[in-house]
Amino acid sequence: MNLASYIRDIPDFPKEGIVFKDITPLLLDFDALDFAVSSLAEWARPLSVDFVVAAEARGFILGAALARELGVGFVPARKPGKLPGETVSAEYILEYGVDALEMHADAIADGARVLLHDDLLATGGTAAALVDLVRGRGAQVAGFGFLVELSFLGGREKLDGIDVKTLIAYDGE
Ligand code: PRP
Ligand code: MG
Repeated sequence: MNLASYIRDIPDFPKEGIVFKDITPLLLDFDALDFAVSSLAEWARPLSVDFVVAAEARGFILGAALARELGVGFVPARKPGKLPGETVSAEYILEYGVDALEMHADAIADGARVLLHDDLLATGGTAAALVDLVRGRGAQVAGFGFLVELSFLGGREKLDGIDVKTLIAYDGE
């Protein structure tokens, strides 16, 4: 299946000069959605993970489906101030300022094997924060699965030594 044909380019969103990769047509089509989740699960199954951890918000969409497919639990890494319990946090740099992701401090046990997921790998800032969060809890990053990669932004370099899988890659804008 040609998954890329279900990704829609939206020029000048969220601001001029940026071409937004819209994944909603893929989500809308059961066969494409099923193929995407199954493909990531097929890659991840041999990694024998204990949990899937994914980034708010778009990472939640396939992340929970992937956890269900792998038969493991799901841990949300949320934007600051959203989780009710004690949290741990990892910051990352945005074009203007910093943001952070938070996870419940008791969500993953020491030594757990974790699969990370997000919808898109761009500069790699969000992904690197997820890695920091999980490693900070003494857990092991077994792999990182993405739906889309913008290769020309070089985000993969921030994930050195990690088993990275992307289903759709763009070499240029
Ligand atoms: C988008 C996307 C990734 C991140 C990738 O999330 O869903 O999480 O950017 O960019 P990076 O590799 O440069 O960090 P965004 O923060 O826009 O918000 P959302 O997922 O809540 O929609
Ligand atoms: Mg996101």
